[in-house]
Amino acid sequence: MKILILNGPNLNLLGTREPEIYGSQTFEDYFIELQFKFKDIELGCFQSNIEGEIIDKLHKAEQDGFDAVILNAGAYTHTSIGIGDAVAGIKMPVVEVHISNVMDREEFRHVSHISKHAAGVISGFGLKGYELSIKSFI
Ligand code: DQA
Repeated sequence: MKILILNGPNLNLLGTREPEIYGSQTFEDYFIELQFKFKDIELGCFQSNIEGEIIDKLHKAEQDGFDAVILNAGAYTHTSIGIGDAVAGIKMPVVEVHISNVMDREEFRHVSHISKHAAGVISGFGLKGYELSIKSFI
């Protein structure tokens, strides 16, 4: 199985960005742990601060040989109808992940343009949410 982890804006700052909310581990370090834990799964990883690049990756995921996508669209979750439409428009199963519990934060984070089209949503379990998403696909 080949799974793409797609991270949106500001998630390149994990490790130093608001560590009280997002923890102090970098995604690069965590990704190495994930690869070690799931040796039978081929994991791909892409981060972008640009909305259109995230949409392009979703469109290309099937062509790139992926079976599933784990998407943390960051703040675009709450604003991007385009990313929501892309998730709706592809056949590939997408799990929406948030490191923090978005429902326990500001009201603008309670809106997601992705959830309705996602296979499921995992929120509030820290970086472990990515691991739980992989397990959901297995
Ligand atoms: C986030 C939650 C979003 O509200 C926020 O804008 C992020 C990260 C999370 O993983 O908890 O950038 O998606």
